[in-house]
Order: sequence, then C-alpha cells, then structure tokens
Amino acid sequence: MSDGSSFSITTPIFYVNDVPHIGHAYTEVAADFMARWHRQRGDDTWLLTGTDEHGQKILRTASANDVSPKEWADRLVTDAWKPLLDTVDVRNDDFIRTTDERHERGVTAFLQKLYDDGYIYAGEFEGFYCVGCEEYKQPSDLVPGTGAYEGQQVCAIHSIPVEVLSERNYFFRMSDFEQRLLDLYESNPEFIQPESVRNEIVSFVKQGLRDLSISRSSFDWGITIPWDHDHVLYVWFDALLNYVTALGYGSDDDEAFQRLWPSVHIVGKDIARFHAVIWPAMLMAAGLPVPKRVFGHGWLLVGGEKMSKSKLTGIAPSEITDTFGSDAFRYYFLRAITFGQDGNFSWEDISARYQAELANGFGNLASRILAMIDKYFDGAVPTRGELSTSDQAIDDLAVDVTTRADAAIAAFAPHDAITTTWELVDALNGYITEQQPWALAKDDAQRERLGTVLATALRGLGTVAVLASPAMPKATEKLWASIGAGGSIAEQRVDRAWEWQSATRITSLESGLFPRVEQAEQGAA
Ligand code: ME8
Ligand code: MG
Repeated sequence: MSDGSSFSITTPIFYVNDVPHIGHAYTEVAADFMARWHRQRGDDTWLLTGTDEHGQKILRTASANDVSPKEWADRLVTDAWKPLLDTVDVRNDDFIRTTDERHERGVTAFLQKLYDDGYIYAGEFEGFYCVGCEEYKQPSDLVPGTGAYEGQQVCAIHSIPVEVLSERNYFFRMSDFEQRLLDLYESNPEFIQPESVRNEIVSFVKQGLRDLSISRSSFDWGITIPWDHDHVLYVWFDALLNYVTALGYGSDDDEAFQRLWPSVHIVGKDIARFHAVIWPAMLMAAGLPVPKRVFGHGWLLVGGEKMSKSKLTGIAPSEITDTFGSDAFRYYFLRAITFGQDGNFSWEDISARYQAELANGFGNLASRILAMIDKYFDGAVPTRGELSTSDQAIDDLAVDVTTRADAAIAAFAPHDAITTTWELVDALNGYITEQQPWALAKDDAQRERLGTVLATALRGLGTVAVLASPAMPKATEKLWASIGAGGSIAEQRVDRAWEWQSATRITSLESGLFPRVEQAEQGAA
C-alpha cells in the first residue's frame, strides 16, 4: 500500500536563451507522467520545473537582442517556457525561476553557511570555459576546430572556441567529497540510473575530483557572493540549488522542504554529471540529504544527431501537437523510447503508431464497445452471468497488467508500463473478435451471453482508461465520462485500476478518441 509516502520529482530548469524544442518537452512529459502515476496511487506528490536565467549565455543573448537579461528572461518565460507546459499538458505543482527572490534568498543562505564552515576559499583560476555548456573544461574536453575555427581548440559539444580564463575566484572544496561520493554510488547503486550513466560517473569520479571554481567577477548577471560583492555565483551552483529553494530551504517556512526533500531528479544524460557529482557534494557540505535518485534519460535524435538549439535542429513541440494532439505526443515519446536510451524522432514513426496503437488499437476498441452497449442494450450496462474461461482470462489479465505496470513505474520504466497496458488493449480486441457480440445479438437465446461479453469488455476498457490516464489525460477523461464511471479519471487509483466500478449507463462516443489525421497536415514530413 502506497498511501502516505511522498514522491517529489523535478525536471532540470531550462536555459531561457532560446525557446523549447521537443527534447525539453520530452523531459517535461516523462517527469509529469511519473508524477501523475504517483498521484494516482495516493502518494504525496510534487512536480517541480522552472527556468535557469543567470550566467553569460543568457546575458549575451539578451545583449544581442538589445534588452536587459531580466527583460529577456521575462519574455521567454511568459511567451515560451510556461506555454510549453500547456502544449504538452504538464500538471506541475510549482515553477521556479532563478531570478525569484525566494531562490536568491535560499542560495545566499546556503553559500554563507558553506563559507562559514570552511568549504569555500579564494584562489587563482586558470583554465578554459565554454559558455554554451556554462562549464569549466579540461584540455581533454576540447577538439580541433574546423572551418572558421581551424587551428583553434573548440568545445566538443558546441564546436565553438572556449574562453581562456585567468582570474581570482572562490572555490568549493569538492575534492574533499571524492570518497564520500564513491561510497554513495557503491552503497546505493540506484542513486544514478541508468547503468550506462552510472558507470560513466563512477569512472569520472575515480579519476579524481578537483575543487570547483564557483564565482566570476568579469560580469554581474548572477547572484552576488554575500561576502564579496565583486563576484557573482557560478551559474550551475546557483541553478542546482533551485531544487531546495523551491521547497523553502533557507526561508522561515521550510515545511515543504522537510516533507518533500529528498527528490528524484529526471535530467538528460548531458547534465547527469552536474546532478550526480557536484550537487550531492554541495549537499554533503551543507549537511543535507542527497537526492533520492538521478535519472539521466537519453537524447532525442534527428537524423542520428542530438537535437539542439545551438545546432538549429530543434523541432517545436507545437509542430507535433497541432497535428496529433498532446495525448499522442505524450504517448508516442513515452512508449517509443526506452527510458534511458536515445531515440530517433520521425514523422513516419509517430504517424504509424498513432494509426495502429491509438486510433485503431485503443480508440476503435472504445468506440466499438460503447456503440454495442448503446445499440443492443440502449446504453444500460448489462449485468454479467456465468463467466467463461475467456471472460475470466480478461478479468485476470486486468489485475496482472495493473500489477506489472505499477512495478514498471517503480523501476523507472515508463515505456514498460505503457507496453504492458497495451497487452490488455490487444487482448480486448482479440476477445471481441473471438466472442463476436454482433453474432450473439442475432440470437435471442444468447441475450445473457451477449450481456456478459459486453460487460466484461467494458470492465477491461475501464482498466485500460485508468492505466492510460497518466500518459493521456485528455482522451481518457473523455472516455471516463462516456463509460459513466463518475468523478474525474485523475482521481482513480492506478494501482487498483482493475477495481473501478461502472455506473449503470454509458453514452457512446460521438467522435472517436483519436480523430483521423490527414497525411497532408503532417508538418515537415
Ligand atoms: O542544461 N533530447 O538547460 P538546457 C532529450 N539550465 N532531452 C533534451 C535534448 C534532446 N535532444 N535537448 C535538451 C541546462 N534536452 C541547465 C540545467 S538544472 C539545475 C540546470 C533536455 O536548457 C534534457 O533534459 O540546456 C537536457 O538535460 C536539458 O533539456 C538541457 O536543458
Ligand atoms: Mg544545454
């Protein structure tokens, strides 16, 4: 029984230098799906997302557009990042911006504590910095430039020259935490997932950790270092703290922090190192609990390459939702990509799955069952007579699928939860083909049998609706109203999805759950 446990989950806070693409939407959807599932199993659930607004990258973009960085951030948050949540139907509990006063206050308190406790010292920094990554680089992170950058060393990710820094900075004693981090990875093997990301992080830390430069004095778009106003805080040190400042760390009211921390972090694997090395070291220094888990998901690829803003390969989420709707967007990315692995996006693939799995698989199933109850029983849900082996098999599968789907969520495998749910969709379609209710309807002597078949199918359909609701909140809400179950589907227990009770009447679906999509409408096909 899960009642009473807390499940606090976060997405990264995204840079507001540009508008979101489907890579960002993918992270939002994955975290939202996990949160909705946990909410529907009675856990005290909290989904946090937000924006990362300080640092040179944002400052430069704003300057290039002749506005102040704060004006730029306000514009992007209002016009692009908050609307993204509606576009892909994310139900977040909070949205934090690193320019929020609550965040700046919490960061300042945290920094002062680390400074007072001797974890921060002044020193000389010499090295490389990539503004695209907002990251200090080692010579081994650089590659020879090409084209305009021929003869120079460039960032391997952004393919642009790095900055050469030589300045007096404040440093965080990260090297002090090397052994404690290795102990954490060892004693809690699930701390970093998946395995591939975990292995990479463990071998990185084993090579030895250096102290981290955490301040800059050559620009001022950041949080001021409380004991030295000539410096602003390194943007990653600032950003990572959002996960606790949003819960009230460092304020008079830290009830949410006490109740909900530690959280689970869902991030892309590109930033897993910041979350699984720097962040737990910061928390250890402050004497706070480390995150429950850091899950580094894979990349969405376009034509085999990581989709990115800087390489101009970004696809806007609305290009897809305008054609297929938010439910299909969510379903597709959750099901088609094994969580933790890279996945190639293609219009052909989403169209094919939409047609086969949603319109024909689930949508048709729902329309047929409801239409037959409407036609043969005038919308009154028939009572079941004696159950045949086939009927019983459907009932049993509903229980089994529910248990396995819930276990898949506990194992951070959303793709498995959905694939498992579709076993019931396919079984129900097979059951109807086999039982042929339309043939039973022609024979008055089979009236009770007809009722048993349709009522059994309806029960199975209700289970599918509940299990599919965290992925597809809109279509399943519509179906829930049709099957006459009452209340909102978002309030149904997903871990007991087989237990739902049908009302006495249904209404048939006027339009399908997944309308026909015209090939010609498919964006950049
Ligand atoms: O790194 N495939 O922000 P960011 C899948 N502000 N996910 C992708 C993706 C792709 N092709 N491209 C981006 C930052 N993402 C920091 C985070 S957190 C304290 C600070 C997603 O705007 C994925 O979640 O560059 C990735 O980790 C994130 O966007 C990077 O977003
Ligand atoms: Mg990035």
